[in-house]
Amino acid sequence: MMEINQDVTRRGFLKTLTMAGAAIAVLPMLPRAAHAAAGFEKVGAAGDFTVGDFKKVTRADGSSLYVTKKADGTFLALSSRCTHKGCEVLWSPGSKSFKCPCHNGQFDAAGNVVSGPPKTALPSPTTKVEGGSVLVQS
Ligand code: FES
Repeated sequence: MMEINQDVTRRGFLKTLTMAGAAIAVLPMLPRAAHAAAGFEKVGAAGDFTVGDFKKVTRADGSSLYVTKKADGTFLALSSRCTHKGCEVLWSPGSKSFKCPCHNGQFDAAGNVVSGPPKTALPSPTTKVEGGSVLVQS
């Protein structure tokens, strides 16, 4: 009789331990899922970005964006995909522009076409700040 109670207790403990492990594994996914449900995803902390420079971030879908903090404290996000044929553009801090290595397309720091074959600006998803995090529209 005593052994049965100990076995039940041991099973109960292992079950509780398994459930706690599953909860711990799922917990880090909750904030991202909440933002995705609202149509925004976190790309970093507000303090990660500097006025006048762009930081490349990776989105949940694997695509990348360039994000910067503007002088007025808001944030600007620009797609890293060239609007000509989709090559990855590169931020050039010296010239404060984005250059496309494929056909020499060039965009200014606002994403507007400066020269080369691209006809349209880099797409710029909406950004917002919540709780010290920079969020970009999905
Ligand atoms: S793909 Fe960028 S200029 Fe052609």
